[in-house]
Amino acid sequence: MVCKSYILSTGSYLPKKVMSNADLEKIVDTSDEWIVSRTGMKERRIAQDDEFTSDMGAKAAKIALDKADFKATDIDLIIVATLSPDYIFPSTSCLIQEKIGATNAAAFDIQAACSGMIYGLSTAKSFIESGAYKNILVIASEKLSSIIDYQDRNTCVLFGDGSAACLVSSRKGSIRIGEYSLGCDGGQSNLLMMPGGGSRNPASHETVDKRMHYLQMDGKEVFRHAVRRMEAASIKCIQKSNLSESEIDYLVPHQANIRIIEAIAKRCHIPNERVIKTIQNYGNTSASSIGITLDELLDKNIIKQNEHLLLVAFGAGLTWGSMILTSEEV
Ligand code: ACO
Repeated sequence: MVCKSYILSTGSYLPKKVMSNADLEKIVDTSDEWIVSRTGMKERRIAQDDEFTSDMGAKAAKIALDKADFKATDIDLIIVATLSPDYIFPSTSCLIQEKIGATNAAAFDIQAACSGMIYGLSTAKSFIESGAYKNILVIASEKLSSIIDYQDRNTCVLFGDGSAACLVSSRKGSIRIGEYSLGCDGGQSNLLMMPGGGSRNPASHETVDKRMHYLQMDGKEVFRHAVRRMEAASIKCIQKSNLSESEIDYLVPHQANIRIIEAIAKRCHIPNERVIKTIQNYGNTSASSIGITLDELLDKNIIKQNEHLLLVAFGAGLTWGSMILTSEEV
């Protein structure tokens, strides 16, 4: 019998501190009108100085475990998607393993930027459907405020902090992980990156002086690629699933820009009321954004049996990914 994989529960965590567009107006030359009209963002959350990526990831993971009434010691593997880890090494997944007491779990991080949750879920699906593991926590967590240049108005208005977790299992649940499609164009890696801190530009006075430890982005070019790649990835996944666009009940997109989200929805013929948006409240939380948005949707308890959710993401790399989730009777 072919093993299937299910999301048994989700969790998310957003730091308490709100940074509004009005707050940003005091820091850089920007306006609420510009930010709302160009991005759809009204506010974002910012972690405390002593609150780190692993802390937020652990909180989301504990919520997901509690919702499914699951013990941390029953977890076989922890996969963490992040581009703002506590350290370059050890991995944030190891830190979270200790924080939640998942003493029987192996753990590793993946780095696929904003596509991280979909890369993580598809990795978990493969481990489960191959029979290697039974219960996997896929966690996305980002403290983007630690790598954002609050002197650069082109980027600092866009990003926020937060985390999300999905408990993926071979045990039958109400959300089945279906087909997925992943992609990458490393030729465009220079469009969105943090140039300092790795082996190419190790930390030095010079890298700090040149502000190389902050995220840098060519927003216009990234926007162009995002629309094209997310549309193609969505269509590919719908076709792989033998579905038609009209059978997609909810679109859960990466929350990078309201104009990108609306363009994807239009191109995939998904009506606005079926497109789930959290961007106005949290901005772009990179890997966490799809998980946070999915968690809010599932918490509403509006998904009916046999409905199809399309997840689609795009980020630095460039990377992209799409995935179909289907609700089933338990
Ligand atoms: N406030 C006011 N003006 C601003 C601001 C700001 N915060 N930021 C930029 N501007 C100015 C620019 O300087 C420019 O001025 P100029 O014409 O005098 O030079 C003007 O606004 C227009 O800039 P554009 O680049 O044309 O603005 P655009 O409409 O492209 O929107 C944005 C910029 C929001 C960054 C958009 O390009 C975007 O969302 N890009 C995609 C981001 C994305 O998808 N990232 C996904 C991956 S994230 C990850 O992987 C971590």
